[in-house]
Amino acid sequence: MIVCSCNIISDHDIRDAVVATDDALFSPAQVYDCLGCTVRCGRCSQSVRRIIDELPPRDMRCTKHPNSLPASSSPGAI
Ligand code: FES
Repeated sequence: MIVCSCNIISDHDIRDAVVATDDALFSPAQVYDCLGCTVRCGRCSQSVRRIIDELPPRDMRCTKHPNSLPASSSPGAI
């Protein structure tokens, strides 16, 4: 199902990006960044947020930013 009509992104695309990335993705903007696009009108943000929240947490790094630390191991992370 297409979730974002501006970027033609499906729920599968979003789940695949979250699962495939080595980083914990917490926001629709981060998901879109990893998919190589940006949030445009924002109507899909709540749906993307819900898909992210439904997936199990990830404790790895983003392939786009391989040197970044996972949020849970960043200095000052709670
Ligand atoms: S529907 Fe996703 S940015 Fe417009």
